[in-house]
Amino acid sequence: MAPTIQTIGISNGGGDCPGLNAVIRGAVRASILGHGWRVVGINDGFDGLIWTDRTVPLTVESIAGILPRGGTILGTTNRGNPFHYDIEENGKKVTHDYSHICCENMRKLELDALIAIGGDGTLTIARDLGKLGIPIVGVPKTIDNDLSATEVTFGFDTALHVATDAIDRLHTTAESHGRVMVIEVMGRDAGWIALHSGIAGGADVILLPEIPFTIETVCEYLRKRAATGKKFSMVVVAEGVKLPPLDPFGKPFPAPRPGQVGFLIGDAIHTLLKKDVRVTVLGHIQRGGSPSPFDRILATRFGVEAVELIARGEFGRMVCLRAGEIESVSLDEAVGETRLVDPKSTMIRTARAIGMNFGDYA
Ligand code: F6P
Repeated sequence: MAPTIQTIGISNGGGDCPGLNAVIRGAVRASILGHGWRVVGINDGFDGLIWTDRTVPLTVESIAGILPRGGTILGTTNRGNPFHYDIEENGKKVTHDYSHICCENMRKLELDALIAIGGDGTLTIARDLGKLGIPIVGVPKTIDNDLSATEVTFGFDTALHVATDAIDRLHTTAESHGRVMVIEVMGRDAGWIALHSGIAGGADVILLPEIPFTIETVCEYLRKRAATGKKFSMVVVAEGVKLPPLDPFGKPFPAPRPGQVGFLIGDAIHTLLKKDVRVTVLGHIQRGGSPSPFDRILATRFGVEAVELIARGEFGRMVCLRAGEIESVSLDEAVGETRLVDPKSTMIRTARAIGMNFGDYA
């Protein structure tokens, strides 16, 4: 039986992502215009459900103009798991379980349901809050595109445009100076941004977390390429690549901090190849700015379908894209499994067919 809904909450957690505002807009408009519900924005991830002064009414008027805006009007955080909330008390780190406060505050705020937008971490918390009785639905978000239950997440397409544009721009300098350019893109566990932007940008080498590589193999390939008269090369690196055990001096590579892996690989290539190497780390530029049309549309469809899940009383589920259609999957199925690049996929075979190298063999 469809539940009686008067008011819903919307929260987003984890890193920001182009398209978050489009989901919020889609959900607010579908709730108000389609169902006559009230909508409350929960600020700063689940923090806004722990401290209720961090909430804001969302109306058709108050969200006007947010569709093309990057970031999120609700603010976000990738800390603050209500089940294990770390705070400092008298100079010491103490961990609290605030999940029951979230349940109480749902009642205090008179929220009949909650939409949680996020990546694997946020959606896991959403699933667990659902198990405590909060009527919750999820929307998948990450530029990394590594959630297993959906073909694509919003944010990926925008990040791909940024990364491809950067590779195009770096290509011209590489060509003019005869350099090796190393471009580090995001992708903590999966190499989707590196693979797609590498193919779209015409990279020569693409290094992914899913394909083990050696610096020697990369350099052998770059030497062969130089021997055919190519004076420059483009090497795209996913930030999550697993470095080989030893650097060219036979010493262990240090465990890289975020944004460092491209430099370690660039230095190692320079050491072996004795060529001019330059490194660019794209970092959060990939998460910033206005979402692409594809992401705006996908995010809008996700936001509207999240509202329809609530209207039908289908809680504990996450909206997803399958064969181009918006569907849903249980949050239990949706979390915990990272969608990785399959080294045997047609995408990898396509790249190899046109001479791209993955550092596994030259
Ligand atoms: O998960 C998305 C992502 O952009 C990763 O690619 C990256 O490792 C991480 O977020 C960076 O997060 P932060 O904003 O905390 O530096």
